[in-house]
Amino acid sequence: MKSQILNNTNQDWHPNIWPPFTQITNSNPQIEVTHGKDALIYTKYPKKELIDGISSWWVTLHGHSNDYIANAIFHQAKTLEQVIFADFLHPQAQILSERLSTLTKLERLFFSDNGSTAVEVALKIAYQSWKNQGETRNQIIAFDGAYHGDTFGAMALGERNIFNENFDNLMFPVKRVPWPSTWINDEEVEIKENKAIKILTNLLKKPTVAVILEPLVQGAGGMNMVRPIFIKKVSEVVNNNNSLLIADEVLTGFGRCGSLFAYQKAKIIPDLISISKGLTGGFLPMGITLAKEKIFQSFISDSPKKTFWHGHSFTANPLGCAAANASLDLLENDPIKYLSLEKKHFAHLEKIKKLPFVKNIRVTGTIAAFDIAIDNNFGYLNSIGKRIKTLSIKKGLFIRPLGNVIYLLPPLCITDKQLEKSYNIIFDILNEL
Ligand SMILES: Cc1ncc(COP(=O)(O)O)c(C=O)c1O
Repeated sequence: MKSQILNNTNQDWHPNIWPPFTQITNSNPQIEVTHGKDALIYTKYPKKELIDGISSWWVTLHGHSNDYIANAIFHQAKTLEQVIFADFLHPQAQILSERLSTLTKLERLFFSDNGSTAVEVALKIAYQSWKNQGETRNQIIAFDGAYHGDTFGAMALGERNIFNENFDNLMFPVKRVPWPSTWINDEEVEIKENKAIKILTNLLKKPTVAVILEPLVQGAGGMNMVRPIFIKKVSEVVNNNNSLLIADEVLTGFGRCGSLFAYQKAKIIPDLISISKGLTGGFLPMGITLAKEKIFQSFISDSPKKTFWHGHSFTANPLGCAAANASLDLLENDPIKYLSLEKKHFAHLEKIKKLPFVKNIRVTGTIAAFDIAIDNNFGYLNSIGKRIKTLSIKKGLFIRPLGNVIYLLPPLCITDKQLEKSYNIIFDILNEL
């Protein structure tokens, strides 16, 4: 069959593709990309280079088509591309498990395919581990504004909104705690944090399966940031009440928040951690759930009922593991890349913050965000974000605002010049609004 690619001028939607998170009646068609290199994406029509200001949905860690990771995958593909992980082990999975276990201090790794499955697995492990210990617990606690993925369990944990309301009847109940988002010069931060901790403490009086949170930054909810001290307090309350803390580090892991994992800034150790996105440097889809040894031990039994009956066809895919090991090499050899971006963001935001409708400026590590308060319509469906996206693409920057929230989350390899250009483009657009 002749491919549309040959004559697609990107004026229309492809007739055979169902695009994610998109209503085609009110969005611009997908733009065809020919290749990517470092922080740049190259498009065919119009022929353009775009700075990838959001790391292609937060996954591209070291840049596009990174040679070191590409070579690791190539070499692995010629050695072993895939093998059933229930019966076989391979060196890349062993090495990766040992490395991540040492880095996180969580001993056991369960492999899956993406961020949502890494969260599903964490929740299923938490739920069953109580059952295995002879206790049925049903209360699960998450935060307002949370996003943990789009499969049913992950979706149920996330904030209930337009994106999941069609499935409301199919989702299990989850108790909510306010998320004390903060920003530069926020004078109410402690009041908000104390209120949230009080609500959490009250809820935890009932035996609880787990509390799940996105450490330091809620991504899809609007790049809503909290202080490390809040995460520390949550962890203490969870521990004191004998529940489990799940850190969803799908977005925040691998240097994104200015430390290898975001929870490390809070000086805590969660019971379960979900990772994906930057795990393979953004090259291949893979998820991992890390668990403390004591949780793993609650599954060890002669009774088949205590087994964790969960697995995916591509569990611990050798190509994904090779990419993840290569990505870890790059992170470990050059931590300055993720350590240095915060300062650079702050410097550029000095100019942005002078614009009258820019509010709630916030930065955590490599992520910078602020709100546009141009009308009273806050939230994802605010059309200002779409307008800004279209204008910024025209000027050479790809960003994808979350409604009225503008943010930059670039690949770690972004050059100083490219970062400056990104901020200049955003400034010019906002100035013209
Ligand atoms: C914090 C968090 N958890 C889970 C997910 C789901 O990951 P995936 O899209 O790979 O299923 C996302 C995706 O954006 C996320 O940001």
